[in-house]
Amino acid sequence: MTGLSGLRAVVTGGASGIGLATARALAAQGAAVAVLDLDPDAVSEPLLGLRADVTDDASVRAAVEQAAERLGGLDILVNNAGIGAVGTVEDNPDEQWHRVLDVNVLGIVRTTRAALPHLRRSAHAAVVNTCSIGATAGLPQRALYCASKGAVLSLTLAMAADHVREGVRVNCVNPGTADTPWVGRLLDAADDPEAERAALNARQPMGRLVTADEVAAAIVYLASPAAASVTGTALAVDGGMQGL
Ligand code: NAI
Repeated sequence: MTGLSGLRAVVTGGASGIGLATARALAAQGAAVAVLDLDPDAVSEPLLGLRADVTDDASVRAAVEQAAERLGGLDILVNNAGIGAVGTVEDNPDEQWHRVLDVNVLGIVRTTRAALPHLRRSAHAAVVNTCSIGATAGLPQRALYCASKGAVLSLTLAMAADHVREGVRVNCVNPGTADTPWVGRLLDAADDPEAERAALNARQPMGRLVTADEVAAAIVYLASPAAASVTGTALAVDGGMQGL
């Protein structure tokens, strides 16, 4: 893996799970990293924690400007903040649809819009969106979540086309079920969390969940100069869930 020293990165939703693993992996490769999250106090040095709510345009703009000022510019944006929803189209009320799409899709729009003026000035500009295999697979009981991630995939491709001539690459990762606090919360809510975990593992071709570090490694690759010719791509990190 190419070193990232001298590069400056912003990771949204970087205080937990895949985002935290990514922020740490970017820093371990030498990048200066700002985490934009509702809960910035959850991160510690060398990560710079900044409060931002990706559903609030003013808060995103202020945090991106602060990150660019503190880090001396921006080269890498990881749009990772996301929330889930369980249910079929009959289960989720309109307000929940608006809420999930606001975080998962518009959150990327707002953060990218704020970051692009800085990214255009970088010689190694890269945006990586955390999408999901739910973008291309019909997962049961995840109608709203799958629709939101389908939009993230399309948005990734459209942004890649719009900004390729400006030297800004845009890609996404499609994780399968990853062992993060998010999945921990879903398991805790189950009647029998241990049985539920065993069932989750059993449906994986590899017999286990993907780890946050494995998804982070894919994000770091797409964000790095090693991927200089890679744009408009979705990289699955799903333990073979979709392909096998
Ligand atoms: P997580 O719940 O552990 O972490 C999500 C982070 O996003 C938290 O730190 C939270 O504070 C932050 N966040 C939530 N709403 C926010 C907002 N409005 N503004 C700023 N920050 C906000 O979740 P996890 O599992 O690490 O998920 C991260 C991303 O990975 C999400 O986009 C999710 O859809 C995606 N993903 C997760 C999978 C999994 O199985 N865990 C599988 C496929 C995709």
